[in-house]
Amino acid sequence: MSADTADLLSKSSYYLPVYAPRQLVLERGQGARVWDVEGREFIDLAAGIAVCSLGHNDADLKAALLAQAEKLWHVSNVFYTEPALRLAEELVGASKFAERVFFCNSGAEANEVAIKLIRKWASNAGRDAAKRTIVTCRGSFHGRTLATVTATAQPKYQAGYEPLPGGFRYIDFNDVAQLEEAMASGDVAAVMFEPVQGEGGVVPASAEFMARARELCDAHDALLVFDEIQVGMGRSGQLFAHWNWNVTPDIVTLAKALGCGFPIGAMLAGPKVASAMGVGSHGTTFGGNPLATAVARVALAKLSSAEIHANVARQSAALRAGLEAINAEFGLFSEVRGMGLMMGAVLKDEYAADAGKLLDLAAEQQVLILLAGASVLRFVPALNITDEELAEGLARVRKALAAYLAAR
Ligand SMILES: Cc1ncc(COP(=O)(O)O)c(C=O)c1O
Repeated sequence: MSADTADLLSKSSYYLPVYAPRQLVLERGQGARVWDVEGREFIDLAAGIAVCSLGHNDADLKAALLAQAEKLWHVSNVFYTEPALRLAEELVGASKFAERVFFCNSGAEANEVAIKLIRKWASNAGRDAAKRTIVTCRGSFHGRTLATVTATAQPKYQAGYEPLPGGFRYIDFNDVAQLEEAMASGDVAAVMFEPVQGEGGVVPASAEFMARARELCDAHDALLVFDEIQVGMGRSGQLFAHWNWNVTPDIVTLAKALGCGFPIGAMLAGPKVASAMGVGSHGTTFGGNPLATAVARVALAKLSSAEIHANVARQSAALRAGLEAINAEFGLFSEVRGMGLMMGAVLKDEYAADAGKLLDLAAEQQVLILLAGASVLRFVPALNITDEELAEGLARVRKALAAYLAAR
């Protein structure tokens, strides 16, 4: 590492120390490659945690951003702007279920308004506070605000932040019996989960859990809410992940790839709830910002294309086959699981404690990967990744794992 890079990295002491990044300072990107300030090139199989779904430096996204930057940056929600109006129509249309959308800036904020919408809808129906319970799943991840970290049924994210907001009930993901029991008392206003748990270890919902969740919500007059912040926008192989199960939700939240790297979140509301919040009942200064919505319009159009759809299917098969081939050689994983371009390689118990070390070794071999939970290697590359980029990335992952086993 050069003295300049070391000096740059030393400035991280000014950050609130809530992150533990790899010791890399990234400077530019192109497609599924990024370069650091020292000019080293990396294959990016993380895409900024499932954000940069069109890779880095996409020409169309850049053109939309620059064109809008020449015109108007911000007016807040006391006025309309064209990109936000058009994106609203396009996103609602693409969703095939929603009537209205609320734009915000992040995933946590999208889930926060979903939680507020559930409560307001139940309140409008005359249900008192005790009857507005939201059921969420262990292993979930819904964000870091106080309400969304409470929805996130993982104690490690909640510890020390008590008192937490009330009105949440946790069940095991994919456990139909627990879901039935959680709803039996008749006080549940919504069931909320990720169609594929991301931070929880790349775990898809079972067909039975999905179908039963819809049936039980209908039977108990509760809302079904999908957090598609990580798995939505084409990553599952379909534009909306829940299309894979043919289940219609009442609310869906999006963020991450909606702006492909430009911050934007959205909450889509179906007919049951679309009118539950009135003027003054919610808001956010930057939501629907013209720069963000101009970029998201292009992201939505491109991520909805048959070309992306086909590439996800092709690269998903290649990624799974590549990881399975690596495993046939090294035997490090107990399972390779996931959907589309959201794949997890589950480390066997004896290697689980070294998960962080494996990420460092991967970075040494110039490939960027992530963890999901404590011991699942997570692969969430750009949806337009090429055959060559993926093959090179997998070859580097293989080298990193070989280096790990050689040193063990
Ligand atoms: C499924 C899911 N929901 C919500 C969030 C929170 O999004 P943000 O970090 O933009 O607040 C994330 C982030 O990883 C996520 O994966």
